[in-house]
Amino acid sequence: MHADARPAPNALSRLADAVASAHADIEPVRVGGQISAVTPAFYRVSGISPFLKLGERILLGGEGRPQIGEVVRIDDGGATVKPFEGSIDARLGERAYRIGPVSLSPDASWRGRVVDALGRPIDGGAPLVVGEHRVMPFSDPPPAMNRARVGRHVKTGVRAIDIFTPLCLGQRVGIFAGSGVGKSTLLSMIAGAEGFDTIVIALVGERGREVREFLEETLTPASRARAVMVVSTSDESPMMRQLAPNTAMAVAEYFRDRGDQVLLIIDSVTRYAHAARDVALAAGEPAVSRGFTPSVFSELPRLLERAGPGFEGGGAITGIFSVLVDGDDHNDPVADNIRGTLDGHIVLERFIADRGRFPAMNPLTSISRLSRQVWSADQQALVRRFCALIARFEDTRDLRIMGGYAPGNDPDLDQAVAIVPRLYDALRQDPTSPKSEDAFRELAAMLKGE
Ligand SMILES: Nc1ncnc2c1ncn2[C@@H]1O[C@H](COP(=O)(O)OP(=O)(O)O)[C@@H](O)[C@H]1O
Ligand SMILES: [Mg+2]
Repeated sequence: MHADARPAPNALSRLADAVASAHADIEPVRVGGQISAVTPAFYRVSGISPFLKLGERILLGGEGRPQIGEVVRIDDGGATVKPFEGSIDARLGERAYRIGPVSLSPDASWRGRVVDALGRPIDGGAPLVVGEHRVMPFSDPPPAMNRARVGRHVKTGVRAIDIFTPLCLGQRVGIFAGSGVGKSTLLSMIAGAEGFDTIVIALVGERGREVREFLEETLTPASRARAVMVVSTSDESPMMRQLAPNTAMAVAEYFRDRGDQVLLIIDSVTRYAHAARDVALAAGEPAVSRGFTPSVFSELPRLLERAGPGFEGGGAITGIFSVLVDGDDHNDPVADNIRGTLDGHIVLERFIADRGRFPAMNPLTSISRLSRQVWSADQQALVRRFCALIARFEDTRDLRIMGGYAPGNDPDLDQAVAIVPRLYDALRQDPTSPKSEDAFRELAAMLKGE
């Protein structure tokens, strides 16, 4: 995407930039068609079906009120186009032109900047440097056989994670929780992890106010400075919301291919799935699972699998994806679908947050498939022991509240009652707390009451 944006972009100038960049793709011969149908969600263009591919863009309106949309369906009668801007301003019979697929040209100087799904700056800063290589937001994961294995352990500085679900370079981890349980806050804390050269953050489907709060208050200035932030708020079109995480992934791939260790954060994958569903429904796909279309379930793993290790000796993309799970609904189709693609799950629980314990992570249901690689035998035994004590403590909570517990009868339970509350205290951290340096040692010191 050519980024010749004005310093203070408004909707119009952003549109103009998009058109300017679109012109760069225009071939010597313009391929155009005519609008044959208009609905609130899409329009149809007839006469150019044989020349179009899925994912190509269509320019409409030309002078005055240019609009860009993407081809989401092609059939004999014409092409279905979904606009990137929210509303459609098209007349029957008007001409529309093919302008090639969405692309962008990231550059190392994009760190510290906020862009929209089309890669246009939205932070009021200087125009973005146009990088040397064009990349496509939608592309395939690297071939599995050529990929390196997941790399070394990185400390996140979040004690609960470093002890119970240790993170490795190139790992793909989901953070599963209901709304308001602390996903975004935890993501911002993970963004402070050392060992990453570049952070790419996609914020999808949040309200504008929440986005500002996250970027300006929750994220530390140090994390912000090394992060490229791709934002698509809830009031943008589903096209933009579907594109944003793919754009973020393409930016992450660019940095990975430079040899960087990249931390990619997508908040949230669920909102992305909702956008992908809306686009697919408009393209005429049938809904199969709670309103979701089959393509959503093929797109999700395709996106997530682009994160992970790169080629041997090169950079990697460590992916942290937040997943909204509503209430106690463990059959959420999005959560179900991506569980298998991930190699770690961090589960945040409302009952823990309600007790004021943050991060509200449940160590009993959270797992990292790589923990065995990271832990020493002693650490493994210790973590197992902690989990057993926590399980005992939680199982006997009601009994103890009702006064049915007297110390001295059950040494295991006595130990749980003595240790677990201190363990819980030791795991408490908020974004302003000091980062953990050596989680196991700190924990040992705290349990001894030092
Ligand atoms: N580590 C934490 N320490 C203290 N409070 C927290 C922490 N994490 C979350 N909270 C509280 O929970 C609220 C919701 O957190 P947020 O991260 O926005 O949740 P989500 O992204 O899951 O909707 C925050 O405004 C804050 O009050
Ligand atoms: Mg959030």
